[in-house]
This record gives sequence, structure tokens and C-alpha cells, in this order.
Amino acid sequence: MTVTCVIGVQWGDEGKGKIVDLLARGSHFVVRYQGGGNAGHTVVVGREKYVLHLIPSGILHPGVRCVIGNGVVVDPAQFFAEIAELEGRGVRVGAGRLCLSDRAHLVLPYHKQHDQLAEARRSAGKIGTTGRGIGPCYMDKAARIGFRVVDLLNPGRFAAQLATVLAEKNRIATAVYGGEALDGAAVLAEYEGYRERLRPFVTDTATLLQNASEEGKDILLEGAQGTLLDVDFGTYPYVTSSHSDAGGIAAGCGLPARRVDQVIGVVKAYTTRVGSGPFPTELADALGSGLREKGEEYGATTGRARRCGWFDLVACRYSVRLNDVDALAVTKLDVLDELPAIRVATAYELPGGGRTEEFPADVEALEGARPVYHELPGWRRPTGGVRRRVDLPPEARAYLDYLEEALQVPVQIVSVGSEREQTIVEGVRIAGT
Ligand code: GDP
Ligand code: IMO
Ligand code: MG
Repeated sequence: MTVTCVIGVQWGDEGKGKIVDLLARGSHFVVRYQGGGNAGHTVVVGREKYVLHLIPSGILHPGVRCVIGNGVVVDPAQFFAEIAELEGRGVRVGAGRLCLSDRAHLVLPYHKQHDQLAEARRSAGKIGTTGRGIGPCYMDKAARIGFRVVDLLNPGRFAAQLATVLAEKNRIATAVYGGEALDGAAVLAEYEGYRERLRPFVTDTATLLQNASEEGKDILLEGAQGTLLDVDFGTYPYVTSSHSDAGGIAAGCGLPARRVDQVIGVVKAYTTRVGSGPFPTELADALGSGLREKGEEYGATTGRARRCGWFDLVACRYSVRLNDVDALAVTKLDVLDELPAIRVATAYELPGGGRTEEFPADVEALEGARPVYHELPGWRRPTGGVRRRVDLPPEARAYLDYLEEALQVPVQIVSVGSEREQTIVEGVRIAGT
């Protein structure tokens, strides 16, 4: 009877979808609480591969109820497209199984338009966003001109407010960005068309989750993105616009922070980043492209090639402390199988001189940081078939032991392939088992 949270410790794409699916089996609820359709969470079940953007990764277990919390920004077109795709593949996603917070903010067409126009206008300093309207939607939420699901349910108010906001957005699109004005009547008609389709899913999800927690139900919270993309603690401004560390939970779903019993941090056995921004251990050479090919490192949302590099202890120590991680899930260990040696950054040499083990706030310091590496021997044997930690090659065990010692957190899940079964679980409790 626990509230468990799964958090990305690096720059996203750590394999959270796979770990959530694994832990969701006997959970009552799986909850998304921040981010939106920028996420791409992959779950592989046998020959089937599912990529989830808005819908929680617990949806593939028929007994699990899924919740999209108030902190998520929801594009209704994407919401229905994802449901249709799942249903088309035989996954039942009725309103009984999926609840959408009445307080969640809606992504509108001008959010996507402004996201793309703003990116196109930046020459240097492009963030490399997913173009899903995430930043502009959270901007409007903070500026108090956003539309929540509950606001759409009120027809008169929605139409009046949309007219005011859209007039302003169109002025910005045309005068500032030199873009096209959107047709207000078309936007209104599109969103009015979502009203009755959304209604059956709409729930006061904060109360639902508070009740569930008081009744001792198992709740799994699914983080999106990763700690280093957090709007406060990430590599600002090369971040997403939500709180993608454990700090986002209470505000994003209404479960008080003290209700969270367990935080599982997901890390790749190396590092990737998609989009721009500093990445001290990046390998812009054949080793990096080798990791990309072996690890199939192409974005699950945008298809962009992910940048690849060595494991970064400076960054991960910082994330582990921020999230108070109880246990680590190390994924993609198999991707390192053929390497003769493996490196881990233990400190940075800073551009102005000096060495640090702390993660700097200054993007320029991070951009100029040169990692100090510790090298460990590779194992040069396949690990994809291993199901117990003792059966891993000794060098692979030594690598995991080293990470545990350096981060002072036990590794309780090891993933050695994308499939459900390719997992070593030792220590962590899976609800219902
Ligand atoms: P998420 O956003 O954190 O859920 O991660 P993504 O789904 O964007 O990216 C992780 C990718 O790695 C997906 O394609 C997964 O199927 C795949 N994957 C997850 N775990 C493993 C693993 O242990 N080994 C390998 N080779 N692939 C994995
Ligand atoms: P999951 O949940 C990796 C990155 C984008 C860009 C920055 C801002 O699959 O781990 P945004 O569209 O959010 O304004 O883009 O954040 N980004 C991600 N990178 N995984 C994700 O999600 C990401 N979601 C956003 O590439 O650099
Ligand atoms: Mg992803």
C-alpha cells in the first residue's frame, strides 16, 4: 500500500515508460502529473511496441486506472488520437479507466503555433523544443490566461474568453513573429467539438487520489522528462516548462508531498539528451554514434537523433539528492555490452579553472566543463538474457556496484533490453506481487 514515484534522473528518455509498466502490474492507479505530449514513453510487450505521450504507461494493464493530473497540459486532439490508437490495437481505454483532471490546462492551436514560431526565430540559442506547445501553454497558465478543462465545459464563458485571448495571440503571431493569424471561429468550433467527448473522462482527480491514498491503494506516479530538464533545477534555459523532478508531484496531482513513500530514479547506464543545451559528457565521435545505433537513440516523440555520452556522476548525484531517490533503476545496460572500457564522469574541470563535484547553475560553466573520468573495464558479453544480478558478468556487476557506491543509492532494477521480461528486479516491491 504505497505511493511510488518514478522520476527521470537525467535529461529524459531514461526508460521511464518501461519501468512504470513493470511496476504498474498490481497498482490501482498510475498518474501523470506534469508535462504533456512532449513526453514519449515506450513500452514493449512481446512484439508490440507502444509509445505513450499523454496517457499513463499503466494503461496496458487492464486492472489499472490511469489519471492525467492537473499539472499536465493536454492537447485534446492528441488525447483522442492516442486513445483511438490504443483502442485500435485492442487496449480498452474507456472513461472508467482513464480520468482527466478538471483543472488540467488545455493546449490550444496558438500554443503550438507560438512554440514553433519562437523556435524558428531564434538563431543561436534554439531550445530544440518538441513543438507541442508546452512552453506557451505553461506561460499562459502562469499569466492566468489559460483554459482549463473545466473552463471548456462552460460553453458561454469559454467562447467569450477565447475571443479575447485569441485576438491578443493573433496580434503577437502576426506583429512579432510575422506569422499567420488563426481563424477564431475554426478554433472555437474545434474545441466546442471536444466538450462532450471530454466530459465522461473529467474528474476531480485530486480528490480521487487523496481518497485512494487514504484507503491504502497503491498509486504509481509517472514522471515525464527528467530532472535536468526541470524548469528550476535543470540546465536553464535549455529545459522544459514544468517541474519534472519529484518537486512537481504535489502541485501536479494534489497528493500532498508527505504521502509519497518511495522515489525510484531511472537512469540510463550512459547519458542521452535530445534538443539543445549543455551536455558535459557528450561523445561527438564514433563512440557516441555507436551508442546511438546500438541503443536506437532516436526520439520517441520527434524522431530526432539523441545526443549520447558517458554516465555523469556529477549530474546524477545532484538529481538523486534533489529527488531524494530511494532506489535506482539502471536501464540499457545491454547497450554497453561490446565496449572494452566504460567511463564515468566524477568531477568537472571548470573553464575559469578549478575542479568541482557540484552541478553548476551557469550554462556557460556547464558548456565549458571538462569531465574528469574514472574508467572501468567493459564485459564484452551479452547481458540481454540475464535475469539475476549474480548472473551478470563480473565487470557489469562491478559497474553497478560502482554506481551504487558513488550515488549512495541501491540499484534495485536493472534493465537489459526493451522487453518486459528483460529486467532484473531485486529489492523493490511490485504492488500486487
Ligand atoms: P522514457 O521517455 O523515459 O519512457 O524513455 P523512451 O521510451 O523515450 O526511451 C527509451 C528507449 O529505450 C525505448 O525505445 C525503450 O524501448 C528502450 N529501452 C528501455 N529499456 C531498455 C533496455 O534496457 N535496453 C534497451 N536496449 N532498450 C531499452
Ligand atoms: P520523456 O518524458 C527528452 C526536451 C526537448 C527540448 C526541451 C524543451 O520522453 O523523457 P519542450 O517541448 O518540452 O518545450 O522542449 O525538453 N524534452 C525532452 N527530452 N525526453 C522528453 O520526454 C522530453 N520532453 C521535452 O527536446 O530540449
Ligand atoms: Mg521519451
